[in-house]
Amino acid sequence: MELTDKDIAVDLDKCSQPMDLQDLFPNPGPVEIEIGSGKGTFLVHQAKANLNINYLGIEWASRYYRHSCDRLARWKLSNTRMLRADARDFIRDYVKDSSIEALHIYYPDPWPKKRHNKRRFFAQDNMLEVIRCLKTGGQLRVATDHEEYFQQMQEVLLKDQKIASCFQKIDFCPAEGAKDGELVGTNFERKYIREGRNSYKIALSKL
Ligand SMILES: C[S@@+](CC[C@H](N)C(=O)[O-])C[C@H]1O[C@@H](n2cnc3c(N)ncnc32)[C@H](O)[C@@H]1O
Repeated sequence: MELTDKDIAVDLDKCSQPMDLQDLFPNPGPVEIEIGSGKGTFLVHQAKANLNINYLGIEWASRYYRHSCDRLARWKLSNTRMLRADARDFIRDYVKDSSIEALHIYYPDPWPKKRHNKRRFFAQDNMLEVIRCLKTGGQLRVATDHEEYFQQMQEVLLKDQKIASCFQKIDFCPAEGAKDGELVGTNFERKYIREGRNSYKIALSKL
């Protein structure tokens, strides 16, 4: 069946608040979300390998968003959709309680300047929303090259009792597109490997 970038793109104006994410996809199946999907590399590999799982990528940069829509359509991956939005707003306003199977966040913008730290996704309010949206047993999977941001992530996820009490740590299994020495095989991960930078990872399951 033909698939175009328009089939992949989600029109937020047509979505109700909250919405049934399942309605975005032609076939029933668990829904996983990737925040900041960049050029869509993780989604392509993961969705090709797991045709029974539905993947929603959220990307706010229009150039990357359009690139991903086009790429996923060319691969005829009807189990994928792309949304152009600020993931924080979408998760808070549109995603129902206990409705997602996994949330993937790979190499999120680290906002390294002190005055920009508040823009970071890993903060208590966003994490409480993530917990609300994940099903019991649902996974949060994260990788970053930024050591200081990773420390903050761990502070929020493992030391803030309101959040830590909702999760247990699990093994981080490499993604489908990961080659030897990679965690997820995304464009940013490969760039950082070429630059000799380390990566840090964490995977949690909702209790
Ligand atoms: C450093 S890039 C990583 C891209 C990709 N995950 C990878 O590993 O190659 C971070 C991406 O997240 C997107 N992004 C950052 N904050 C976002 C938000 N609040 N909602 C949606 N996308 C966001 C940026 O536009 C950018 O494409």
